[in-house]
Amino acid sequence: MDIQALIREIPDFPKPGILFKDITTLLRDAGGLRYTIDALAEKCEHFAPDFIIGMESRGFIFGAPLAYKLGAGFIPVRKPGKLPAAVHSIQYELEYGMDCLEVHQDALHPPDCRILIVDDLIATGGTAEATAKLVQKSGCQLVGYAFVIELKDLNGRKRLPEAPIVTLVQY
Ligand code: PRP
Ligand code: MG
Repeated sequence: MDIQALIREIPDFPKPGILFKDITTLLRDAGGLRYTIDALAEKCEHFAPDFIIGMESRGFIFGAPLAYKLGAGFIPVRKPGKLPAAVHSIQYELEYGMDCLEVHQDALHPPDCRILIVDDLIATGGTAEATAKLVQKSGCQLVGYAFVIELKDLNGRKRLPEAPIVTLVQY
């Protein structure tokens, strides 16, 4: 299936000059959504993750059904102040300014468990890099990354801690 055809491009969002990749049109398409999750599952099965870690908010949309499909648990990485128990936080740089991601301290265990990072898209790689650092800090095994979309020109994969990377659509 051509899932790229189901991803809508919106010019000048969120800023002039940016051609935004809108996944809502893919999500809305029953066949497209099922195909996307199945394709991620097929490419990620061999990682045999114990947990999928997905980043708020679009990482939740693909991460949770993929975890279900692979028989893994799901761990949410959230924006600051959302998680109720003790958290590990990590700050990371945006184009302008800083952002922060948090994960429950007791989520990433046992220390030898296998973790797969899942998000809708990799652009600069800042979000995935920060998440990978949270995983590494916990001592868990980072077994791979999976993204539906990769924006290749931004070279995000170059800054990621070493682990195999699965992507479905490249721009
Ligand atoms: C978007 C996207 C990725 C991230 C990729 O999330 O969903 O998580 O940016 O960019 P990067 O590789 O340059 O870090 P965003 O922070 O816009 O929030 P959302 O998922 O809540 O929409
Ligand atoms: Mg996101």
